[in-house]
Amino acid sequence: MLRTSVLRLLGSTGASRLSLLEDFGPRYYSSGSLSAGDDACDARAYFTTPIFYVNAAPHIGHLYSALLADALYRHRRLRGPSTAATRFSTGTDEHGLKIQQAAATAGLAPTELCDRVSEQFQQLFQEAGISCTDFIRTTEARHRVAVQHFWGVLKSRGLLYKGVYEGWYCASDECFLPEAKVTQQPGPSGDSFPVSLESGHPVSWTKEENYIFRLSQFRKPLQRWLRGNPQAITPEPFHHVVLQWLDEELPDLSVSRRSSHLHWGIPVPGDDSQTIYVWLDALVNYLTVIGYPNAEFKSWWPATSHIIGKDILKFHAIYWPAFLLGAGMSPPQRIYVHSHWTVCGQKMSKSLGNVVDPRTCLNRYTVDGFRYFLLRQGVPNWDCDYYDEKVVKLLNSELADALGGLLNRCTAKRINPSETYPAFCTTCFPSEPGLVGPSVRAQAEDYALVSAVATLPKQVAEHYDNFQIYKALEAVSSCVRQTNGFVQRHAPWKLNWESPVDAPWLGTVLHVALECLRVFGTLLQPVTPSLADKLLSRLGVSASERSLGELHFLPRFYGHPCPFEGRRLGPETGLLFPRLDQSRTWLVKAHRT
Ligand code: MSP
Repeated sequence: MLRTSVLRLLGSTGASRLSLLEDFGPRYYSSGSLSAGDDACDARAYFTTPIFYVNAAPHIGHLYSALLADALYRHRRLRGPSTAATRFSTGTDEHGLKIQQAAATAGLAPTELCDRVSEQFQQLFQEAGISCTDFIRTTEARHRVAVQHFWGVLKSRGLLYKGVYEGWYCASDECFLPEAKVTQQPGPSGDSFPVSLESGHPVSWTKEENYIFRLSQFRKPLQRWLRGNPQAITPEPFHHVVLQWLDEELPDLSVSRRSSHLHWGIPVPGDDSQTIYVWLDALVNYLTVIGYPNAEFKSWWPATSHIIGKDILKFHAIYWPAFLLGAGMSPPQRIYVHSHWTVCGQKMSKSLGNVVDPRTCLNRYTVDGFRYFLLRQGVPNWDCDYYDEKVVKLLNSELADALGGLLNRCTAKRINPSETYPAFCTTCFPSEPGLVGPSVRAQAEDYALVSAVATLPKQVAEHYDNFQIYKALEAVSSCVRQTNGFVQRHAPWKLNWESPVDAPWLGTVLHVALECLRVFGTLLQPVTPSLADKLLSRLGVSASERSLGELHFLPRFYGHPCPFEGRRLGPETGLLFPRLDQSRTWLVKAHRT
């Protein structure tokens, strides 16, 4: 569906490195670090995940969608200042033919299936640390009120009419398809059956009298919205794809089904013979959560960021904005789109038996480990392949060895016997690079490290803004490597605390490395909350010192006092991230031919 040639336009190269001392640290100082005022974080922000179908148990793709939203939301909160100004919703999509059929196949009443699977999503999200402020179920009464009200608004604005709708319908995808998007697939016994070209799911021919939404009227307004808001859909190739779709014809859309055919849904107000189309029902969840139709919703709309998978782009970037415009409201501010996880190069599906269970992964790799893996490896622009060996390799190298090793090196008793944040010596490490003198010990690479870590919070924020969380993590990981190089270069284990020549420099090396670790711990909070907490607690950083506004990296270097200098480290609580055994790769092996 998404033209890969377009998607490949965006490279996945590492974070661009700013040159030595360019845009140096004081910027974070004078502007009060990376905080609210810098980027309008005083304004409200409302993040959403798609609501998940309850026809089957959650898999890692669903968890990935929720994790992306969780990391964006947590990062936004780190920028502060007020948590009251942020919201984050997720939930389950429980109506429609797909659920009606799945319940019938399972021999359950639809409500039983919905309760059971919705509970599985809630449990998974709780275990995975998804910090949603609202979990909505479309079977709730508050949602029915919102959907029926929204329907009434569209009706009163003359945007719904009754007509005969004839075409292919795909129950799995819950969408109508034009002839050109349907193909014949050979069946096992030589016969063939019609399927959706895009998803491969079976389709059936329907002809019904329905309510129809005047979608065709919105082609031009949608084009104007997208052209005037080049950041509306991120990453950019998806924005481009939607504009291409809008160059084509945009037919009116059937927004109800006969109740005799689809009974599991919200009835059309005043016409019980029709049930509201499940996508219209589902999309309105974003309004239900913020109190629609009560006026309170206006303070949250349209300050909204929808996080969605590429398969539901058309519904969010065409249908939803058109419905909203039709109801006299603005389209959402941002739509962040991600690609999918495959397993051994194949789509995950129950019938192929290759569905990866996220709860098993969380148990095996720990919550922080698995969160880190999915967000570090998941690239929004194209699909990613999952296999277990990859998880073990990545976590061992980046969390256990590089980050954990660095912490251990700087806090171990034999190197840091006083277990404090040692003092920084400005004559060993003057703020002016290139100075020479008997006590100057810092080298050009050390200034490069300070420069890289000083600019890291801003780089990370930019990557979050562009929905490239993996690049934010890549940038952190690269700085961790650089810091390990710094420690290796100066080998503090060879310096002697008793020597008046060595001691100030030994303290400075540890001070700089601990300062770098403090930045890494702060920046990792949205992705690995518990691991970051363990790291920051070990450094003695209190809860009120963990926001981006409080970061102030290496203040002594810039001539300011450092609140951590001389402070006792927090208690030792064991390895930051214990190495995983390769034998843990029993779930899904790399596919080798
Ligand atoms: N119910 C609709 C969304 C309605 S929102 C108003 C739906 N549900 S879903 O359960 O099928 O998908 C929910 C999310 O999971 C989507 O963003 C989808 O892209 C994502 N994923 C489903 N499979 C996935 C992968 N294999 N990999 C990554 N994300 C995947 O669509």
